[in-house]
Amino acid sequence: MAEPLNPQDRSSPIGKTEPEVKVSTELDVAIVLAAGEGTRMKSATPKVLHPIAGKTIIDHVLSQVLVLKPNELRVVVGHGREQVEPEVKKVAANATTVFQAERNGTGHAVQLALADLNTTGTVLILAGDTPLLRHETLAEFVAAHAKSKNLVSVLTAELPDPTGYGRIVRDESGAIVAIVEERDASDEIKAIDEINTGVYLFDIAALREGVAKLKPNNAQGELYLTDVIADIKASSGKAAAILSYDYTETLGINDRSQLAECIAIMRDRINDRHMKAGVTIVDPTTTWIDVDVKIANDVTIYPNTVIFGDCEIATGASVGPFAYLRPGTKLAANTKVGAYVEVKNSTIGEGSKVPHLSYVGDATIGSGSNIGAATIFVNYDGVAKHRTEIGNEVRIGSDTMLVAPVRVGDGAYTAAGSVITEDVPAGSIGVARAKQRNILGWVLRKRSGTKSAEAATKAGAKVENE
Ligand code: UD1
Ligand code: MG
Repeated sequence: MAEPLNPQDRSSPIGKTEPEVKVSTELDVAIVLAAGEGTRMKSATPKVLHPIAGKTIIDHVLSQVLVLKPNELRVVVGHGREQVEPEVKKVAANATTVFQAERNGTGHAVQLALADLNTTGTVLILAGDTPLLRHETLAEFVAAHAKSKNLVSVLTAELPDPTGYGRIVRDESGAIVAIVEERDASDEIKAIDEINTGVYLFDIAALREGVAKLKPNNAQGELYLTDVIADIKASSGKAAAILSYDYTETLGINDRSQLAECIAIMRDRINDRHMKAGVTIVDPTTTWIDVDVKIANDVTIYPNTVIFGDCEIATGASVGPFAYLRPGTKLAANTKVGAYVEVKNSTIGEGSKVPHLSYVGDATIGSGSNIGAATIFVNYDGVAKHRTEIGNEVRIGSDTMLVAPVRVGDGAYTAAGSVITEDVPAGSIGVARAKQRNILGWVLRKRSGTKSAEAATKAGAKVENE
């Protein structure tokens, strides 16, 4: 953790704690604001339910907040409540949802969240659309606030382009005086590059008093939570603006471009974590790994690979290029999933290989087996999915269709091009294809005058009756 800081000092920002480093904190209440419409997403899906690396935006936010173990967690929901509420409960079963029927601003949302809250102490407030915030940074923020003995701290960031955000106005001593929204800002204030991230810590009693006094005296006619900070500063001086080190953590999502930006940042962060843990990722810019994927060290991932859901990959495995691993994929040690291979809900045993152009769906494959190029596990009969079981040391010939449910026993083979609809016993070969017949001279008779016929004649072929 960074050294204790002077909250007015912008030269020692917080948020440098390495991932997974525990910062111990105590937090009484957390409030997540997620009632907004997300109009700019132009989506039938509520903004906070859009996915990033396999989890919804609100899941990312709540998961980080939960690491801080607040005694009480409240989530303000409004737009798309019927969809947002179940997602909140799924991630944080103990969270209380608060319904804000009309969106009268962040100050109004907090009034509602506090209405039947009887606790004193400290509350963390943040928006439900900032999925890149890390719990390590939030914990540093909580610790810095506790040390400062202030009644409010606001987390700030310096943005290359601060347009659209509330600006942090500081006095000559560097102390925060107010937060001014873009729409209410003069040109002079718009030139400030330090912005309000929408993450705050308040003394609950001071906050309660502050939000009760709010007036909608602004361009949007809303109750601004940010006005409470100026009020506390004016009345007690006990307000601080604390700068965060990495502004990308505090990016909010309002439209699809910002969504894509956050998805890319999350991808880099996930890839970095795996690389630090000993995974070779040949091209991190084209490798997309969901946040819950587990990968052992000495796995190699080649370019253009996508790994979704709860996949697990053991040591020595290699994946890609152009591989697609979907939920439920388990690769044992030293397996290979090669180019243009898709795997779903399947376990591939130690040392087994699926090197080229195959679909493996709903299968269990033993150890030491080889699945020939262009093999398809035919798992879907149009209504239900069925499983295929492949034993140890099996050799599946190229272009085999394994029509599930079906089993191929230990040490068995299938002939290339077979459509396997019945079990193949251990040690047998399953051959399920038409026997070949050659019609001699066919090209010379039916395609005379072509280059093929010419080449065949040169090679000594004759027009013969079969
Ligand atoms: C807010 C801040 C701004 C800050 C920015 C950071 C205010 C007045 N302004 O602006 O200083 O730079 O966030 O992203 O707070 N919400 C509700 N109910 C409401 C209104 C909003 O729950 O009635 C929720 C939204 O869903 C969202 C969060 O509060 O998660 C922020 O609201 P939003 O309207 O996005 O505020 P900004 O204009 O971005
Ligand atoms: Mg916003």
